[in-house]
Amino acid sequence: MRDVTNRVPQHIAMIMDGNGRWARQQGKPRLAGHEAGSETVRQVMGYCRKAGVRYLTLYAFSTENWSRPPEEVAGLMQLLTVFISKYEAELIEKQVRLRVIGNRADLSLSLQKELARVEQSTQHFEQQVIIALSYSGRNELVRAVRKIASAVRSGSCEPEAIDEALIATSLDAPDVPDPDLIIRTSGEFRLSNFLLWQCAYSEFYFTPVLWPDFGEADFKTALEAYAARERRYGGVKKEDFV
Ligand code: FPP
Repeated sequence: MRDVTNRVPQHIAMIMDGNGRWARQQGKPRLAGHEAGSETVRQVMGYCRKAGVRYLTLYAFSTENWSRPPEEVAGLMQLLTVFISKYEAELIEKQVRLRVIGNRADLSLSLQKELARVEQSTQHFEQQVIIALSYSGRNELVRAVRKIASAVRSGSCEPEAIDEALIATSLDAPDVPDPDLIIRTSGEFRLSNFLLWQCAYSEFYFTPVLWPDFGEADFKTALEAYAARERRYGGVKKEDFV
C-alpha cells in the first residue's frame, strides 16, 4: 500500500509535555504551567478545526501521573474539572464532541459525572476531542484483554475468534481511527505509554517547544512535516518494485 501523504491528518494525538519546565522558566509554580497548558489546549482545538483535523487526542493525565505530589494531582484534577465545565458551551457552539479514554473509575465521582454529562451533551458532533485521563496504553490493553477473557469465559467468544479487529474494538474508543500523527512537545523522544496499540503506523513529530508555548506556527510546521512524509504501511514504493 502506498500513501504519499500530502493531506491533512485525520487524527492527531498529542503528548503535551513541558508545562513544568515552562513554569520554572517563568519563576512560577508548576500548576501555573498546567494552567497555561490548558489555554494551549483551547487554541490547538481551534487550529485543528481550521485545518480540518477530525480527531484530536490529548494525553492529559497518565496512570503514572498519580505518583506526582498530591497538590499537583489535585490541582490538575481541579483544572480539568473547571476546563470541562467552563468550555462546555464553547464545545457546543463550535460543534466539538468531547470524549474520554482511560480508566475513568480512578477519577473522582464528581469529575466522572461532569465528564459523562459533557460527553452526552456533545455526542452528536463530528469533530472530536478525546482526552486521555488516568490513561496508559498498557492499562487500556489490560482492560481490553479482561473484556475479551470474560466473553470467552461466558462462552460468547471462541478463543480462535480473537483477532486484531476484536482487540481494536475492545479498546476505549473503538470507532476512532488510529492516529495519523503523534506530536510530542518539549524535546523528549518517548511515547510514554501512549496509544501503544493504535500507534502501529503513526508518524511521529517531536518539537523542542514547551507545550504552553506551542502556537499556530508550530502546529503548521508539524502538519507540513507530516505532509512531506510517505506512509508505506510496511509496503515498498512502486518505483522500487523489481
Ligand atoms: C506534562 O508536562 C503535562 C501534564 C502531565 C499535564 C497536561 C495537562 C494540561 C496541558 C492541562 C490540562 C489539560 C486539558 C485537556 C484541559 P510536565 O508537567 O511533565 O512538564 P515537565 O516535564 O516540564 O515537568
